[in-house]
Amino acid sequence: MRRAQQLGRYHLLDRIAFGGMAEIYRAKTFDAHGHAHLVAVKRVLAHLAEDDDFIQMLVDEAKIASVLRHASIARVYEFARAQGEYFIAMEHVDGKDARTILERCRQKKKPMPPEHAAYVAAEVASALHAAHTAVDARRRPLRIVHRDVSPSNIIVSYTGEVKLCDFGIAKATLSKVNTKTGVIKGKVKYMSPEQALGRKLDHRSDVFSLGSCLYEMLTRVPPFTAGNEMDLLIKVRDAKYRPVSELVPSTPPEIEAIADKCLTRSRAQRYQTAAEVEADLRAFLRRYAPTYSRSHLGRYVRKAFATEIERELRMLEEYVLADDVSDDVGENLIAGRAQSEPDFAPAPVPFQPRPTGTHAAAPEADDFGDGESHTTLPRSDSEGLRSETDVPDLHAAQTMILDPGRRVRRTSAPPPLPPGRPAGRAMPPPVPPPRPRTPSRPAPPPDLDWGDEIHREETMILDRARLRRR
Ligand SMILES: Nc1ncnc2c1ncn2[C@@H]1O[C@H](COP(=O)(O)OP(=O)(O)OP(=O)(O)O)[C@@H](O)[C@H]1O
Ligand SMILES: [Mg+2]
Repeated sequence: MRRAQQLGRYHLLDRIAFGGMAEIYRAKTFDAHGHAHLVAVKRVLAHLAEDDDFIQMLVDEAKIASVLRHASIARVYEFARAQGEYFIAMEHVDGKDARTILERCRQKKKPMPPEHAAYVAAEVASALHAAHTAVDARRRPLRIVHRDVSPSNIIVSYTGEVKLCDFGIAKATLSKVNTKTGVIKGKVKYMSPEQALGRKLDHRSDVFSLGSCLYEMLTRVPPFTAGNEMDLLIKVRDAKYRPVSELVPSTPPEIEAIADKCLTRSRAQRYQTAAEVEADLRAFLRRYAPTYSRSHLGRYVRKAFATEIERELRMLEEYVLADDVSDDVGENLIAGRAQSEPDFAPAPVPFQPRPTGTHAAAPEADDFGDGESHTTLPRSDSEGLRSETDVPDLHAAQTMILDPGRRVRRTSAPPPLPPGRPAGRAMPPPVPPPRPRTPSRPAPPPDLDWGDEIHREETMILDRARLRRR
């Protein structure tokens, strides 16, 4: 039996990921009718909770994301402080992020089939266009640029939905924290050349990053790799990469051309909007796979992760909620700020800390408003059941916010899982996932040739002037 720890309105279940800044939990919560819902809770690590700049940045993240309503953008419900902890509650996307899917592709030595790559990229393009063209309550453009479009921020659900997450370093009119001069933020590997140079960005930077993700889906490798961060930045700056068809000769030329047009160094030669990218990808899909639908993508991911789905489903069934559920929902910091910003009107949080009706049943398909199904399938990492030590350090291989004043120290082992509460009420199990038709064999050992080497480099603080001189 596993105990769920309460944090505000949320009951934390398993930890999905752990990093130098935050831990992500799957959590259960209840709406006003007592219906249960799964959400993802990103809990800020204690040492950062005292950093005002960092908290301000997270408030910005939550604020930006909370105004965005789009089927392919993971919805943010609130940024709150409860029981002395800061956290963001967001839509839980029940599936696998594209980084994990690509790792599996590398293990199996097979790139993602072009139709899936095209569909995922088209959905992300659609999400990006919505963000790029979002307006405030007085219809003034918010000029949101995501800035961190990368495989780990693209999650594909087991039903084939694609959700872009983490407007964590996005900047918009709503943002209060300005990027300090000379500081580059984001994952270098997926940056645009202008971003690598620390220049002022517009939405076309996200188009380039989307091109990098598309390239990697088509080939299994990112377009830009190098042995160290400085060389990597130079490669990104120059936007020189091996042609997709050289790596995978069977790639349809039309989709290669789309990736190339996204990855053009000159902004003026690139696609000018994400909507154009989406239109070309959809046209490609219509020709290449006329009967394609999102269920094909769902099936592809379920098949690739069948073993993990099974294991995690069993684990989730073990969770119990505490008997003494507290009504303390904490303080919603986005709502607090809204009072001083009349053009920003956050939606009320649609959850209660405990079931209020008679329906304290399993989490349900419901996404509060965008009409999309909100799945309740279990998630897991590729190793299967997580323990305190086998949760992947999601930041060990990825880039984080770069700020010379706030280098995040990495811990060698994640902190312990949340302490349990005594005596619990059994929590109903979530709705079981559709069973994959063919159970997949255990994943083969990693292919060292492709190596996770390409994901290993850490981000550093870079001096723009030094880069320009090279
Ligand atoms: N809303 C969500 N639903 C389900 N899983 C999520 C959600 N948000 C994040 N995850 C999972 O947690 C992982 C880590 O997320 P997190 O955003 O903390 O780190 P990251 O994406 O590696 O880096 P970054 O800080 O640049 O976003 C994701 O890759 C994804 O697998
Ligand atoms: Mg992320």
